[in-house]
Amino acid sequence: MTQLYSTLAGVYHEMYQHVFDYDKEYDFYDSILKKNNCTTILEIGCGSGMLARRFLKNGYNYLGLDLFNEMLDIAREEIKADTFVQCDMCNLSFDKQFDAVLITGRSLAYVTGNKGIMDTFNGIHKSLKDNGLLVFSVFEANGIFDNFNDFEQNIEHNNKRIRRISKLEKNLETGWTYNWYARYIIEEDGKIAEFDDTTTLRAFTKDEILLFLKLTDFQVKETIDEAKTITIIAEKNAVPC
Ligand SMILES: C[S@@+](CC[C@H](N)C(=O)[O-])C[C@H]1O[C@@H](n2cnc3c(N)ncnc32)[C@H](O)[C@@H]1O
Repeated sequence: MTQLYSTLAGVYHEMYQHVFDYDKEYDFYDSILKKNNCTTILEIGCGSGMLARRFLKNGYNYLGLDLFNEMLDIAREEIKADTFVQCDMCNLSFDKQFDAVLITGRSLAYVTGNKGIMDTFNGIHKSLKDNGLLVFSVFEANGIFDNFNDFEQNIEHNNKRIRRISKLEKNLETGWTYNWYARYIIEEDGKIAEFDDTTTLRAFTKDEILLFLKLTDFQVKETIDEAKTITIIAEKNAVPC
């Protein structure tokens, strides 16, 4: 299991403020939510709360969920603790229903088995009001495996330099899965710390992810195809009386 969201949670929080464009991401979700009159929302894979801050500031009735308390603890430094719940997305159970569920940051990549995907979508189905919205992005398998290259990132955050050297290896054990080996080299005040991390991620072909949604009773309203990512906006089929 990856260390990126536990022992390296602080590094993630600092680094990804320069990797992701959270303002742009927020605007994307906000426009879909507004268009569909959604105000009560659940964010799955909310991490250190970078989108949470924006949803709350703009008046959404928001709950954030993540597997790792180390990520949620960072979010809780600025936001009320009960805004967040620690839970595996494969085991969702709520005593209320939401207008919309978002799985942000392509967090579904960490659910590598078919059963886990089915459990996640079935749990989201139960957690949504009739005709509620599910919005999420996944890594697209063709895009990932066509350009399956090692890469390096160099980030400066305050007085810290974070260098990440990433190597990829096909895994293919439970679908379009791959291993991501990352070395973090962190330099601050003349001191250098190094960490190694291994993660298994799952990419999906479009047909595959659409089939998971069909089997769990979602209707796809829109798909947005980008080089390595598919974004899906789906609606819960109302449960017949
Ligand atoms: C790439 S990060 C995205 C975090 C945040 N959305 C952001 O954009 O910064 C993926 C997140 O998914 C969470 N995660 C991984 N597996 C999970 C699971 N089974 N259930 C809930 N959250 C999970 C991780 O802890 C991490 O915070």
